[in-house]
Amino acid sequence: MNKKIFAKLLGHSQNDLTKITQPWIKETFGIEVKRCDTLEQYADAIDDACLHNYFSKYWQNDMKKWKYSGLALIDEVNDLKPRAVLDVGCGYNEFKGKMDNLVGIDPYNDLADFQVGTLDYKPDTKFDVILCLGSVNFGSRDKIIAEVKRCVELLDDNGILFFRVNPGLSHDKPEADWIEFYAWNVPFIIELSEIFNLKILDIRDDTNSRKYFVYKKKK
Ligand SMILES: C[S@@+](CC[C@H](N)C(=O)[O-])C[C@H]1O[C@@H](n2cnc3c(N)ncnc32)[C@H](O)[C@@H]1O
Repeated sequence: MNKKIFAKLLGHSQNDLTKITQPWIKETFGIEVKRCDTLEQYADAIDDACLHNYFSKYWQNDMKKWKYSGLALIDEVNDLKPRAVLDVGCGYNEFKGKMDNLVGIDPYNDLADFQVGTLDYKPDTKFDVILCLGSVNFGSRDKIIAEVKRCVELLDDNGILFFRVNPGLSHDKPEADWIEFYAWNVPFIIELSEIFNLKILDIRDDTNSRKYFVYKKKK
């Protein structure tokens, strides 16, 4: 759950749901959601609507700015001769047609091959390369762990996972104010490798304080 949003809802309502009105939601979060039965449901619905609003209308990318986790990945991935590549949270699907056999998923960007979130994507086959570039970074530690687990499930044995993660820095635009950016750090990257039996092949500092790292799924 997005704790910033839940804290705001709780502070405003003091657990009285009648205080969570549509005009207040619009004024506070800049989005609209359907009526919910609990504060937790409101927090999830508002979180999803804020992510949707920001990533479908305001967020813009410049793939050229990343030292390791942008255009440089095209040759790196193609050199692996991948049978199937999954780009999780592909944004504008910029690697489509540049990396071999790539499928891009994203719940909020209609340029994705499938407009679906990581946890809801249930393909028939596995992938030998998965990219998670700035996309497994929103919400609580539990949500991040669940999304990494899902990516590991979608990966073949010996498959490779490429990550770019944010150490918890907000984006500048006001439409991103309510998004919870999970504060990734190196101990957490190591902890995940232990939980999911992954070998760390590389960790580097990328542009804008992002971390770039690569896991290999052990047999
Ligand atoms: C910072 S952008 C990065 C986009 C792209 N990977 C890149 O490197 O330019 C984060 C992307 O993650 C997507 N996203 C947000 N929540 C997601 C989720 N639960 N599953 C998959 N993608 C998600 C957003 O819609 C957005 O396109």
